[in-house]
Amino acid sequence: MFRGLRRGLGIVMAGGLALAVGVHASPALPDPHSVMTDPDQARVDYIEHCGGCHGVRGDTVPAHLPELAGRVGWFMCTPEARAYLIRLPNVAHSRIKDNAELADLMNYVVFVLGQGTAPAGTRPFTAGEVARERLQALTNANLTAERERLANQLVQQCHAPASIRQLYIEHKQ
Ligand code: HEC
Repeated sequence: MFRGLRRGLGIVMAGGLALAVGVHASPALPDPHSVMTDPDQARVDYIEHCGGCHGVRGDTVPAHLPELAGRVGWFMCTPEARAYLIRLPNVAHSRIKDNAELADLMNYVVFVLGQGTAPAGTRPFTAGEVARERLQALTNANLTAERERLANQLVQQCHAPASIRQLYIEHKQ
């Protein structure tokens, strides 16, 4: 994972992650940068706290980790799936204790890495929402079942692609 992190920092130094990540937000979504109080801090926080596992661009090649890029926004479609993003163990128990800062980080994940997959009209996370949901952290015991239930919800209610049901995508090299 550290190799990935170093590679990522290289990209950031070479001119900013925002440029490296293709942002294709649909017009009905807010400008990704307007959903963060401090976009630079949010990007750095993501790289430091999440990028080591998920990849700096959210594309985790070739590790067996869920892909965030061009996908994670779907979870904003129902209130429960949206809450799941904050209740994930690595998010809820993040060392970032400032809820506004964590909300910014998650808005970076959803609106920048998600690349327009959040449904039209999606509201950004707020500090209050993060404070509330992180108290309901999922555990490894209930996470898999909860994700499966939510993925079915996203396919049925939101017409998310069926591949959202897979935690890991096997198409990578
Ligand atoms: C130690 C490695 C690791 C770190 C660090 C980590 N994650 Fe994860 N993440 C995982 C794994 C493994 C899963 C699969 C569910 C689980 O076991 O928690 C996951 C699941 C997810 C999912 C759900 C994706 C889906 O399709 O269900 C999201 C979103 C996510 N992580 C975001 C983050 C964010 C944001 C951070 C930083 C605050 C972070 N993760 C830090 C390993 C990590």
